[in-house]
Amino acid sequence: MTLAKNALPENLPCSFVIFGATGNLASNKLLPALYHLEAAARLSESLSLIAFSRRAWTTESWREHMREVLAERIKGPLDTPVFERFIARFSYLQGDLNDVESYRTLAARLPPESACSATVFYLAIKPSEFSAVIENLEVVGLNKPRGMNRVVIEKPFGEDIESAQRLNRLLHLHFDEEQVYRIDHFLGKETVQNLLVFRFANTLIEPLWNRNFIDHVQITVAESIGIEKRADYYDRAGALRDMLQNHLMQLLTVVAMEPPPALEADALRDEKVKVLRSIRPITKRAVHAHAVRAQYARGSIDGQSVLGYQQEANVEPNSTTETFVAAKFYIDNWRWRGVPFYLRTGKRLAKQTSLIAIRFRHPPQQLFRETPVESIDPNWILLSIQPEESMRMEIHVKQPGLDMDTRVMQMNASFRKTDEQTLDAYETLLLDVIEGDRSLFIRFDEVEWAWRVVDPILKHWAVEREYIPTYAAGSWGPADANRLFDSDDQNWRNEP
Ligand SMILES: NC(=O)c1ccc[n+]([C@@H]2O[C@H](COP(=O)([O-])OP(=O)(O)OC[C@H]3O[C@@H](n4cnc5c(N)ncnc54)[C@H](OP(=O)(O)O)[C@@H]3O)[C@@H](O)[C@H]2O)c1
Repeated sequence: MTLAKNALPENLPCSFVIFGATGNLASNKLLPALYHLEAAARLSESLSLIAFSRRAWTTESWREHMREVLAERIKGPLDTPVFERFIARFSYLQGDLNDVESYRTLAARLPPESACSATVFYLAIKPSEFSAVIENLEVVGLNKPRGMNRVVIEKPFGEDIESAQRLNRLLHLHFDEEQVYRIDHFLGKETVQNLLVFRFANTLIEPLWNRNFIDHVQITVAESIGIEKRADYYDRAGALRDMLQNHLMQLLTVVAMEPPPALEADALRDEKVKVLRSIRPITKRAVHAHAVRAQYARGSIDGQSVLGYQQEANVEPNSTTETFVAAKFYIDNWRWRGVPFYLRTGKRLAKQTSLIAIRFRHPPQQLFRETPVESIDPNWILLSIQPEESMRMEIHVKQPGLDMDTRVMQMNASFRKTDEQTLDAYETLLLDVIEGDRSLFIRFDEVEWAWRVVDPILKHWAVEREYIPTYAAGSWGPADANRLFDSDDQNWRNEP
């Protein structure tokens, strides 16, 4: 985010190490994003990239792998001069994350401390390997220079509050907080950043953004894909840990936060933490009233029949892991008291979509009762995050003609001109890591409070493992999710 820059030019790293460079995340997100930054001339000339992984590859086989990965995933065709420039930055290092000798080899490959001010270590590896890397980096002295070398941690940050605290203690034993970049890629998405602009740069909006005008807020992150090949992780995690505790909670904080005194990392994060701290705790007895879980059964998506969760490879037979979660939260502060925030996410849902839908209250007077207008739907503000990025406002206008009829018009505040390219969140976030801007990364107290919010639900579900309701793949989830609504005129909004 170029709104705030904490980095001094001399802090620019000259090495960027990707642990797990042959993995899914690296191939799908990191390498294409770095390539796009190269194409946009945003990588400094002195930056070199080290791909660390365990496969016995040479730099030549890495080069071939990169060509394939990028050809499939970048926007447009591979540009040969850009690719040549990009690949020339890389070297491949075969190593084992658990073997300290690999880190000695890595240290020897990095420029001496005096020649380079900083190195970025990106942990694109399974969470179970985080601690080995953190400890081994210290053993060979790569956690220094303190305050300079950076470590990027992927989600999930822990699997509950206790394990998150343990991981954080370990990190702080070896790194200072300014060195740690906890990533939640939703914060790198343009619509999410645009939400800050929308709210805080428009005097028109802010006076309406509270309990006096807003009836409720919905946040939906729907995926049509299943768990793909991630059963070993997903079957232990489930939708609440995998998506709601991090991505959806982050979106909630951006919708609900107060204006920060400045657009700086800590000022923003202070406000987000205040929101999380204000969420009304869900008592054990209230879990049923506040949360719904379910698992996908066989169904069909885009005319193709798809397996149910329990038929997926490597899922435990009779697993009761939830692939869908919907939950209701209240934020007990002056702005939001009494306004329900409905969050839902799931796999194998009808459509791939991420949407923040804000519904306004009905007008206080039903002025049009005696006219053909029977009942007026309330206004909505719809912020679509993916697949398309858009901002729409639904308002009523009179239908042209002799009668007093109304219709809903969408005012489209799309912020992208047709010739402007969509940025992937990782492009923004990787550049921020390189430039030392932590505004869009998560501070530990945010992680901790988010775990605190969902903890009662996790604990309650952990002991109720005999049965889980199902929903058909390709649907919008279980009908039971409707029971969360506070009033009969509230419904899930699926489309922007
Ligand atoms: N995949 C996604 O889209 C996604 C999205 C959000 C967050 N994340 C997070 O990103 C992280 C990486 O996920 P992923 O899906 O990319 O995992 P992955 O596909 O399993 O990749 C893991 C990488 O680590 C390497 N590796 C494993 N053990 C190693 C060892 N002992 N020594 C050296 N290298 C080793 C693997 O090498 P081999 O290739 O030789 O196995 C592979 O390159 C996880 O924390 C995940 O939660 C992933």
